[in-house]
Amino acid sequence: MSTLTEVAHTLVSNRRGILAADESIGTMSSRLESVGVEPTEENRRVYRELIVTTPKLSDSVSGVILADETIRQKLSDGQTFPEALAGIGVLAGIKVDTGAKPLAGAPNEKVTEGLDGLRERVTEYVRLGATFAKWRAVITISNSMPTERAVRSNAHALARYAGLCQEGGLVPIVEPEVLMDGDHSLAQCQQVTRAVLRCVFDELALMQVDLEGMILKPNMVVAGKDSSEQPGVEEVAQVTVETLRETVPPSVPGIAFLSGGQSPEVATSHLGAMQNLDPLPWELTYSFGRALVGPALETWRGNPDKWEAAQRALSERAVANAAARVESKG
Ligand code: 13P
Repeated sequence: MSTLTEVAHTLVSNRRGILAADESIGTMSSRLESVGVEPTEENRRVYRELIVTTPKLSDSVSGVILADETIRQKLSDGQTFPEALAGIGVLAGIKVDTGAKPLAGAPNEKVTEGLDGLRERVTEYVRLGATFAKWRAVITISNSMPTERAVRSNAHALARYAGLCQEGGLVPIVEPEVLMDGDHSLAQCQQVTRAVLRCVFDELALMQVDLEGMILKPNMVVAGKDSSEQPGVEEVAQVTVETLRETVPPSVPGIAFLSGGQSPEVATSHLGAMQNLDPLPWELTYSFGRALVGPALETWRGNPDKWEAAQRALSERAVANAAARVESKG
């Protein structure tokens, strides 16, 4: 097994999942502000220290995705974040995209940027201790979206990113996120997710990306959050797995879902229901951001007296998701 394949397998096996703590400075700052914490560099660091020092984190978390700011910061004990994670048996990842920007000729659609200079940045991140990377593309559903232009541009960028990561020694997490925003139906989400994943795997093949050395991070197939018809847990699980079976080659070692704005409990239930749909050719796990850390942030609110309670809130979600991965067959 190559190192890339080993890292990819480590990230998705043994019931564990990936914790996404890689919010950009802007997003992290607004999340801190939403709970009354001043959005300073130091407060972003402290909050990330709370996450990675959560007791027994490594029982249910295999990797933590860091932001560029965080991978250069230190914990209060002087260790870097990758050093602290390595000390507890958790892999350090790094978000390498530089954000979704308006796509020319496609009003209201975005293309993710960050390819310029990426080869050099990958080399630097490997030196800083990262073993895997993330790039997120966003696709919006409406009557006129997504356009083929947006889907193909984003798929192309994802594949070029994945190729550069593998060349430089990082396992790429390939994240084409079909957003929950809007009132679209479950069927529309399925149709768009299917088309997006097909296009992404076509581009990955064109760039000769080694599928055994990557992780796919898709959305679950759900109805838009403003849709009046919300499917049940079993239906979401079944339609999501059906869509993935149609599009994702079995050589991909693992699929790690984003939570995308689902409540923590609902995201966990969906993950659990999917485990019953044997036989699955890939590991199905989580790479949640909000669904893992949301309750911890709400509990902490910058109050040092709530540090341990916040870590318990994170632990509870992580343990629940790891347990969902071995949901007993019903
Ligand atoms: P959410 O689980 O909050 O959607 O975040 C996952 C992620 O990494 C988005 O890029």
